[in-house]
Amino acid sequence: MKKYNVALCFLLMYCLNTSAQNKRIHQRVDSVLRFMTLKEKIGQLNQYSGRDVTGPSNPQQYNLRNEIKNGMVGSMLNVKGVKDTREIQGVALQSRLKIPLLFSLDVIHGYKTVFPVPLAEAASWDTAAIRLSAHTAAKEAAASGIHWTFAPMVDIARDARWGRVMEGAGEDTYLGSVIAKARVKGFQGERLGGTDAVMACAKHFAAYGAALAGRDYNAVDMSEQMLQEVYLPPFKAAADAGIATFMNSFNTLNGIPATGNRYLQRDILKGDWKYPGFVVSDWGSIGEMTTWGYADDLKDAARHAITAGSDMDMESQAYKKELESLVVSGKVNIKWIDDAVRRILYKKFELGLFDDPYRFCDATREAKVMADNSHQLIARSVAEKSIVLLKNENHILPLQQAPKSVALIGPLIKAKKDLAGSWTVYADTASITSVYMGLRKKFSSQTTFNYARGCGINDTSSAGFHEAIELATKSDIVIMALGEAGDMSGEAKSRSDIHLPGKQEELFNAIKATGKKVIVVLMAGRPMIFNDIADKAEGIIYAFWLGSEAGNAIANVISGDYNPSGKLPITFPRAMGQIPIFYNYSNTGRPVTATSGIVYKSAYIDLPNTPRYAFGYGLSYSSFTYSDLKISKAKLTQKESFNVTFTLTNNSAFAGEEVVQLYLQDKKASVVRPVKELKAFAKIMLKPGEHQGVTFTVKPDQLAFYKPTQGWITEPGSFKLMIGAASNDIKLSTDFELQDVVNQGLSSNK
Ligand code: BGC
Repeated sequence: MKKYNVALCFLLMYCLNTSAQNKRIHQRVDSVLRFMTLKEKIGQLNQYSGRDVTGPSNPQQYNLRNEIKNGMVGSMLNVKGVKDTREIQGVALQSRLKIPLLFSLDVIHGYKTVFPVPLAEAASWDTAAIRLSAHTAAKEAAASGIHWTFAPMVDIARDARWGRVMEGAGEDTYLGSVIAKARVKGFQGERLGGTDAVMACAKHFAAYGAALAGRDYNAVDMSEQMLQEVYLPPFKAAADAGIATFMNSFNTLNGIPATGNRYLQRDILKGDWKYPGFVVSDWGSIGEMTTWGYADDLKDAARHAITAGSDMDMESQAYKKELESLVVSGKVNIKWIDDAVRRILYKKFELGLFDDPYRFCDATREAKVMADNSHQLIARSVAEKSIVLLKNENHILPLQQAPKSVALIGPLIKAKKDLAGSWTVYADTASITSVYMGLRKKFSSQTTFNYARGCGINDTSSAGFHEAIELATKSDIVIMALGEAGDMSGEAKSRSDIHLPGKQEELFNAIKATGKKVIVVLMAGRPMIFNDIADKAEGIIYAFWLGSEAGNAIANVISGDYNPSGKLPITFPRAMGQIPIFYNYSNTGRPVTATSGIVYKSAYIDLPNTPRYAFGYGLSYSSFTYSDLKISKAKLTQKESFNVTFTLTNNSAFAGEEVVQLYLQDKKASVVRPVKELKAFAKIMLKPGEHQGVTFTVKPDQLAFYKPTQGWITEPGSFKLMIGAASNDIKLSTDFELQDVVNQGLSSNK
């Protein structure tokens, strides 16, 4: 009891302290705002790029330095390094009010050290690792003068044609929300202001991941229920975790561009969620509202954006050119400008920039942090955790006894830059370890490695096949590295066909025809389709793009020095025609329940409904059994939590980790529910032969769904609880009943 009181006192003191500090910052913000002219206020809402990297901009059109000196710029993106940020900050300090600039950058999965792409990290289901990866990236960026990263991308993505699936945590709302929180905490540290942390930015608000037909920058149409249940929760999780900023998106939502969308930004984000941070537009998205056919011209676009709640204009120059006359003519209320400026100044104070504008510009710290070798080790560990073992026929992996000769074949065997993936414009890609390097280092003394490229990533010629076949024939075993080039997934990289590009699968078939055993390492930013490989290869490792330590991590998995534990965060289809395909689809009136007798069922006549690899799937060198499922209560009242316990046993000779997954199905509701939804998971390490009791607590809000007229509600009735190793591999299940609120104990009305 005493302990409890002390903890409560500390919590109370912390809250009082924080609210006193918030109050102080608000007072300081007001004291600056009071002296600002309208022009200077608008200047704070203006963001320019120092480099032309992600969209059309013409730096010749404006004299940047003069604009900064005149207080016309609040933030810069794409300026990095202590030398440059210090110099440009110096220009801002020559302005009348000496308001410091915010330096921002897309630090998506690493800065100098490259971590696995976010989709790969999501496959680790390891929030501590993900948080550490984000924090290490933040450390490097902050040491290099950066205050703010445009990450994490928390868009749910169910369409692998969309190139930006690579930047998010995959298809699931719960997993995406947990990872969103981990990334926010990683980038920002416990609270803003540390010189080893940066402000994070939840993007792209909202529903960008549902861009029609998987085509980037496209329109989105979706029901309110889908928006609230599937696409918004990761944003809410980021907001709850204290994320400093949001970025809106290029898409429309039900006909209204997100950038000019009042419902999203004012009603939901700043209204319902009481979000105190600021919103930056996406690159040029304010101006693009005219191209959409939504705004008359740039002035009208500026009016839409500011009144809808877009606080900062990234690269449209709409605010800079149009806001003043809009305010003077009374078309835009000054209260919107003041509100936006307040939100931005608050963050500048919180970061400590008013006290020391150069606090992120320490050249000694920059040199020290960039030379920190521990970052490589972190990158290797996160990369190992991100690898998913898809197939392991007759336990071909790990290669416990080093083979005498290995043929290394494929266009990605020696690749380095491709393994960095998209959004690594400032990374040290030369020092990335290729698969070739990683394997040679691991097996060096015992094994001869023979190399043939076979074909290029997107080749139409099979000229290199012959050499590769010869090499395979004279080797004991073949390891192939196939996949996408580093610029085939990412922004503006939507693909209408996600089969393995070029002649790569043909090359695989030619090598397989030699009769040799083949292990295939697949590397890409998205799920790919590779049915021949899935059917015929003995071993398949899905490595996504793993970054700086890719080759070492893959070699550790192949040799058995690391036992793979990743699980897919996104469904892998068998065919393009199945897209969009995801595990938490809703039931139908004619569901397919068996492989035959599918006529007049919700089925394809030429293809099973099932994916090639399901959400949550991934193998380990260990094998696990699940037993003894118990729930603490089979009948619940509306406000009750209950415990679920079961036993997990490692019945193999390998120590290993298993991601155990808890799914729920609301069997009948006033709105048709998904067949299952992930509600909890845990990653558990067990020694050979060891077993452990696992407990999950299910809370009432995990049973809730969104009903447009009522908000989040639970309805009484029967639920199914499932414990599985994957969404399609349910090991244990049981039913429970949620009782009626009014008539507890009486029969339910479901
Ligand atoms: C992307 C954003 C990115 C911004 C700045 C845009 O094209 O959609 O995700 O943060 O550019 O580079």
